[in-house]
Amino acid sequence: MTIDFDKVWERRNTSSIKWDKYAKDVIPLWVADMDFAVAPAITDALAERIKHPVFGYTAASDHLHDLLIKHLRDLYSWEVEKEWIVWCPGVVAALAACVRAYATQGSGILTNPPIYHHFFQVHNPDAHRLIRTPLIRQGRRWTYDQALIRKSVDTDTSMFMLCSPHNPTGTLFDATELKEICATASDNGAIVVSDEIHCGLVLSEDRQHVPMALAAPEYSDSIVTLMSASKTFNLAGLNCSYAIISNPDLRQKYIDASAEVIPFIGTLAYTATEAAFEHAEPWRQGLLQYLRDNYAYLQDEFSAIDGMELQDLDATYLAWIDASALGLNDTAGFFEQHGVGFSAGEQFEQAHHLRLNFACPRSTLEQALQRIKSAVATLD
Ligand SMILES: Cc1ncc(COP(=O)(O)O)c(C=O)c1O
Repeated sequence: MTIDFDKVWERRNTSSIKWDKYAKDVIPLWVADMDFAVAPAITDALAERIKHPVFGYTAASDHLHDLLIKHLRDLYSWEVEKEWIVWCPGVVAALAACVRAYATQGSGILTNPPIYHHFFQVHNPDAHRLIRTPLIRQGRRWTYDQALIRKSVDTDTSMFMLCSPHNPTGTLFDATELKEICATASDNGAIVVSDEIHCGLVLSEDRQHVPMALAAPEYSDSIVTLMSASKTFNLAGLNCSYAIISNPDLRQKYIDASAEVIPFIGTLAYTATEAAFEHAEPWRQGLLQYLRDNYAYLQDEFSAIDGMELQDLDATYLAWIDASALGLNDTAGFFEQHGVGFSAGEQFEQAHHLRLNFACPRSTLEQALQRIKSAVATLD
């Protein structure tokens, strides 16, 4: 399948959260959606569905379940049963439902900054303690501080919220790393909530995403996995994701906690997700190649920019940059003044860092790089 990922789609004035954030000319490289058109099979399926002009409450079809089960088998060799799957409109909502379901009054919830900012926000600060065990840097790769995690988890820890592959560092954890934290959490009675929304975006050609439930099968009774087609197939505005919970007791708690607060999924969201799993694998392969090339371009460019160190990345389209050597107080604000909209590291609790979304046509990246270089040159 040939897809023109170079094509520039004008997204200004489309109520895009990413593009319409700025009143002035700023190239937005922040929020995690892509500037690419979805696979044609998805727009075809949506066009077909809207020929039927009734949009009542909708459930996931048997066909969608079959497709999802096949998708997980094909990509990860993970055998998932239909009853384990619970659909929900968003992964953040699912994280919040997990807190309601599993975090008892006064208990601790463990997470690892820098991390996607909602991980800091989905708990109730009056009822729960957020325990931060920061990732550690090994060269330009970020990983878990297993010793600190072991020290920080106790039997009052009810939940471990982790992100794998990791936003914002782009780390793809291996089975050993995952199993070790899962063991520490589970041995202390904590539920492991594994946000794997970026699992379809592994850029390394010789590595694969390992679902937590496969990395640590002996602990599968205490694992909740959250996934979605939304990042991989660029469907974030349609709102469809799913939890996989093999333990029936945990699953029922999750369903009970979701009732009344989490709405049904939109009809068209199911249609798009179904088409993605059924037809869009060639599109995903094309996307991954385009993203690899964009990342290689960034590596070249940033190697020549003093003060901005691109971190290693195995997955996601979100590059993590250590800009501490620039010595700025408000690093993201500085670049915004110069026409480039990064996500600020502070959002992930890591000052002097920037997150750069490179899921855009190369020409957009090239323009942004020109501006970044000009901005840094003003600091000389
Ligand atoms: C790790 C992670 N979880 C969840 C989300 C958002 O998921 P949703 O839009 O399904 O709530 C994002 C979006 O960037 C993310 O990076």
